[in-house]
Amino acid sequence: MLRALSQRTSGLLKQAYPASQVFAAASPRIRRMAASDVQTGPSVISMINEDHRQFKLLWDEYNGPNMNGEMKQKLGWSLIRAIAMHSAAEEEVMYPEIRKRLGSEAADHLLGDDGHQAIKKLLFEANYMSVEKNGEAAYTAKLSEAMKVLYHHIEDEETRTWPHFESLPGVDADLLSHLGRKFDAAKHHAVTRPHPWAPNKPPLNVLANTMTAPLDGALDMWRFGGNPPRYY
Ligand SMILES: [Fe+2]
Ligand SMILES: [Fe+2]
Repeated sequence: MLRALSQRTSGLLKQAYPASQVFAAASPRIRRMAASDVQTGPSVISMINEDHRQFKLLWDEYNGPNMNGEMKQKLGWSLIRAIAMHSAAEEEVMYPEIRKRLGSEAADHLLGDDGHQAIKKLLFEANYMSVEKNGEAAYTAKLSEAMKVLYHHIEDEETRTWPHFESLPGVDADLLSHLGRKFDAAKHHAVTRPHPWAPNKPPLNVLANTMTAPLDGALDMWRFGGNPPRYY
């Protein structure tokens, strides 16, 4: 099903969102390539880290040569959308496991002002800015602020939290692939815009995401001219 979705959407993204196309089309395939995934299905951690890699590709593309204001605007919107979906899915699936197995302090650190909350606030501001209204420099500066926090948060997750989590008794390939399936499912009802004041812990975050996602989706249909990029 993921392959079919990727194939169906990659054509739509080809012209306007080159990095987004790579994200949508290649991500599930790359996920399947991990040797440890062959029998059990993709690990949630490999899926999350693949998302991180794609955020960095999008941001590199944003800062690359030959980018005009319109292209930066579209990439900025794509980044905001992808990061919002990723964060919502982590908060539904991964962080409750972190809370259960590593404790509240570890989960609250990832959710807090060094992590998701800071990123959401900055992307919320960026979401109400535009290249046309605020100028390319101001728009880029706001996104840069958000990406700086995001990069730090990604390092936190990948170099500290995930290795600790994977070393715990009871955390095996079956659990990681089970969480991977849940992570993918969560993307299907995830919000696509940052909501810093919405609940970020189960069960209220699941309810809030499910109720808010259709409105975000309608706004994104308008923003992306009827073809919003699909990040799952
Ligand atoms: Fe995160
Ligand atoms: Fe993450």
